[in-house]
Amino acid sequence: MTTLGIIGAGQAGSTLARAAVAAGYDVVLANSRGPETLRDLVAELGPRARAARAEQAAALGDVVVLAFPYAPGARLPVEELAGKVVIDNNNYMPWRDGNIPDVDAGRKTIHELRQEQLPASKVVKAFTHVQFHERHPIRVPSDALPALLRLARPAGAPDRKALVVSSDSPDAVEVVTRLYDDLGFDAVDNSPLSESWRSAPGTPMWRHHVDGQGREGLVHDLRRAQRGTT
Ligand SMILES: NC(=O)c1ccc[n+]([C@@H]2O[C@H](COP(=O)([O-])OP(=O)(O)OC[C@H]3O[C@@H](n4cnc5c(N)ncnc54)[C@H](OP(=O)(O)O)[C@@H]3O)[C@@H](O)[C@H]2O)c1
Repeated sequence: MTTLGIIGAGQAGSTLARAAVAAGYDVVLANSRGPETLRDLVAELGPRARAARAEQAAALGDVVVLAFPYAPGARLPVEELAGKVVIDNNNYMPWRDGNIPDVDAGRKTIHELRQEQLPASKVVKAFTHVQFHERHPIRVPSDALPALLRLARPAGAPDRKALVVSSDSPDAVEVVTRLYDDLGFDAVDNSPLSESWRSAPGTPMWRHHVDGQGREGLVHDLRRAQRGTT
């Protein structure tokens, strides 16, 4: 994979773009307002980055990240995303997005609903539990970096952290595992999407989204999660 399409260019999308560019990927970024509003960000990211409309970012990305909240009736570039691995980094936040009865009742996860919106894509939950902003409070200068950048370590480093990946598609899990590795993280597979509630806000692993945790701790926390309202 060489090009990451990133739809949503706020805290999450812009930080992911920064990490991906540093790891040698090309990125195509989009938001809801249009590419002209991303001029400064793209200039800051350098020649590996460009801005486009969401449909173009979807078409140009070998893998595409949806870095914006789920909304039931959202207009998505469904055709351009068909056949592709689509990373959904959204967390279910009823206080922000409103309640979704199927998720509240535990009938569906928010990521299964995203898969239903994109039936011909391989939806994968990833990057949902690593902070894309600075640490609060800042204790040492590196805390000013978003966790995605601050916690990144080369493969084999003793303090390397792990991130969760969930999908109904083994191909998508493999692609994200490689992407995590390129960005400095191990992967823990928590598939399928129906199990992705185990890494939702409020679960035991969630409190590590600021400072991260290694593979063993993450596996343990995923196992002991209890299904609640997420
Ligand atoms: N921030 C974090 O630390 C963090 C951590 C883990 C997961 N997440 C998840 O990441 C997602 C984004 O969070 P954020 O903090 O980055 O939010 P944010 O700073 O508010 O940015 C949201 C971005 O998404 C764009 N957007 C919204 N709806 C869109 C649509 N339908 N099509 C194209 N672009 C759209 C917005 O564009 P405009 O500005 O042009 O409207 C904006 O660029 C959320 O789902 C959140 O749960 C965030």
